[in-house]
Amino acid sequence: MAPFAPLASGILLLLCLTAPCRACTCVPPHPQMAFCNSDLVIRARFMGIAEVNQTTLYRHYEIKMTKMFKGFNALGDAPDIRFVYTPAMESVCGYLHQSKNRSEEFLIAGQLLNGHLHITTCSFVVPWNSLSSAQRRGFTKLYTAGCEECTVFPCSSIPCKLQSNTHCLWTDQLLTGSDKGFQSRHLACLPQKTGMCNWQSLRLRSA
Ligand SMILES: *[C@@H]1O[C@H](CO)[C@@H](O)[C@H](O)[C@H]1NC(C)=O
Ligand SMILES: *[C@@H]1O[C@H](CO)[C@@H](O)[C@H](O)[C@H]1NC(C)=O
Repeated sequence: MAPFAPLASGILLLLCLTAPCRACTCVPPHPQMAFCNSDLVIRARFMGIAEVNQTTLYRHYEIKMTKMFKGFNALGDAPDIRFVYTPAMESVCGYLHQSKNRSEEFLIAGQLLNGHLHITTCSFVVPWNSLSSAQRRGFTKLYTAGCEECTVFPCSSIPCKLQSNTHCLWTDQLLTGSDKGFQSRHLACLPQKTGMCNWQSLRLRSA
């Protein structure tokens, strides 16, 4: 057994005794917040089976990046991401890629650690085809306008109170039927000339 393995699994065990382990049942974020809170946002295809590094207990998938939406500053002139890293074990939020289709493109929003793209089960990783056209426009161009000043503020039980005029109340969790997910699928929380933020339709805005 590699010398670091017992240490690494000790750390993982410790993590499991505290909150992050339960955090694996994640609440999906509004895509704008997924964009804003990630270092790297790309479109890519998954090229093969993941390999597990027994020393670090990370699994990495080979990917082929087709487009980059965020992360240019972090990566410099010739950005190319060839691998995506995730914990090897699902108990510590390791991401397990299900699709075997190498042509299928995914939106991947993750964090940059030591120059590597990292994701977990809680990351926003979804088939590009499943995004609404408004969401695609958001990732391509428009979400970024809200990152500095605006916050999508989740409201999961009534009553919800707006705590700041730069917050937009996200009530998707309270809705049912065809309204469910409307704010996620069609809207972004964007700044106004007044300095306030509010929900705006991405359909009406040209990309
Ligand atoms: C596993 O990770 C360690 C530490 O980053 C690295 O030195 C080693 O080359 C990796 N092993 C494989 C098989 O990739
Ligand atoms: C694989 O993905 C591509 C692009 O999304 C799609 O056109 C194709 O039908 C998929 N193939 C299978 C076997 O699902």
